[in-house]
Amino acid sequence: MFNLSGHCALVTGAGQGVGAQIARVLAEQGAIVLVNDLFQERADAVVQDIQAAGGKAASLVADITKLQSLQDQIDHVTGDLGCAVDILVNNAGIPAEGIELARFVDSDPAGWSRHIDLNGYGLLNATYAVLPKMIEGKWGRIVTITSDGGRVGDAGVAVYGAAKAMGPGFMRSLAKEVGSVGVTCNSISLGSIANPNHEPDAERLAKMNKLYATRRRGTPQDIAPAVLLLVSDEGSWITGQTIPVNGGYATS
Ligand SMILES: NC(=O)c1ccc[n+]([C@@H]2O[C@H](COP(=O)([O-])OP(=O)(O)OC[C@H]3O[C@@H](n4cnc5c(N)ncnc54)[C@H](O)[C@@H]3O)[C@@H](O)[C@H]2O)c1
Repeated sequence: MFNLSGHCALVTGAGQGVGAQIARVLAEQGAIVLVNDLFQERADAVVQDIQAAGGKAASLVADITKLQSLQDQIDHVTGDLGCAVDILVNNAGIPAEGIELARFVDSDPAGWSRHIDLNGYGLLNATYAVLPKMIEGKWGRIVTITSDGGRVGDAGVAVYGAAKAMGPGFMRSLAKEVGSVGVTCNSISLGSIANPNHEPDAERLAKMNKLYATRRRGTPQDIAPAVLLLVSDEGSWITGQTIPVNGGYATS
C-alpha cells in the first residue's frame, strides 16, 4: 500500500519541521521529491538526508509568494529530472520571521500581509503552477496544511488563523472542479507541533500539553502518515475534506 513510485511530489517549505518530514516519508514510498524552501542550505540538507536513505530528491529554492520565479524553478527542476509534479503538498505557512502572538487590536497592520501572502498567494501560486500538468496526466493529489488556529480559532493568532482558513476553502471548491479528472484536494489541520525553532517556555508548554486529549503536542512524525494516505492511490475517494490531525486538541 501507499506506493508512490513513478510520482513526483513538490513539498513547499520543506527545509525543516513538518514539511521536511513529509518530504522524507514521500521519498521513502518511492516518489521523487522536490524540496522547496526559501533557504538553499535547508533544502539541500533535506535532499541529502533523502538521498542518503536511498531516495530521490532535488532542491527547489524559491519564494512561493512570487509566481513567476516559482514557475520558472519548477520548470527548470522538473525539466532536469524529466518528471511532472503530480503531488503537491502546500506546507509552507509560517513566515520566515515567525509568528508574533498578539491580540488583534494590538497587532501591527504592517505585519498582516506576511501571513496573507504566504498562506494565500503562496497556496494559489504553487497550485496554479502545477495543476495544468495534473489535469493533463489525469492524476493529481493536492494536500494543504492548515491549522486548528484557523479551523477552531485561538486567541493571539487571529490574522495567521484567518490566513490559514483560506486553505480549506480553496481545497473544497477546487476539489469540485478537478475531481472528475482524477485530482483530489484536501486539507490537514494541525494542532501545535513541536519545533526546535519556535518552542514555548516550559511553563507554557506544560499548560499547552493539558489541552490535548493525548496530553502531548504533535511531532512532524505524527503528520506525515496522514499526508501519505491522502496522496496515495488508496486515498482516491477522499477529496474536498479537512482532516484534523491534532492529538484531540479539538474533537470536531
Ligand atoms: N508548528 C506548529 O505548531 C504548527 C501548528 C499548526 C499548523 N502548522 C502549519 O504547518 C506548516 C509547517 O509548519 P512548521 O512549524 O513545520 O514550519 P517551519 O517554520 O518550521 O518551517 C517552514 C519552512 O518554510 C519556509 N518558508 C517560509 N516562507 C517561505 C516561502 N515564502 N517560500 C518557500 N518557503 C518558505 C521556511 O524557510 C521554513 O524552512 C505550516 O503551514 C504551519 O502553518 C504548524
